[in-house]
Amino acid sequence: AIDDHCPHKGGPLSQGIVHGAAVTCPLHNWVISLETGKALGADEGSVRTIPVKVDDDRLFIALEALASKAA
Ligand code: FES
Repeated sequence: AIDDHCPHKGGPLSQGIVHGAAVTCPLHNWVISLETGKALGADEGSVRTIPVKVDDDRLFIALEALASKAA
């Protein structure tokens, strides 16, 4: 998982289009890797990644990573 704020100008990545292992920001079309959080192509910047795990039908998110953001 990645944060919901584009590294360009904070656009809502949750409203972008996911394609393969990347998401395109709906504001200015930067493409962000869902694996590394880094902007792809000529753009530079990154968002924080949050470890997740899929086990059968359940999705686990690393709450420790989310808590460190709030601190
Ligand atoms: S805010 Fe996402 S590309 Fe500009």
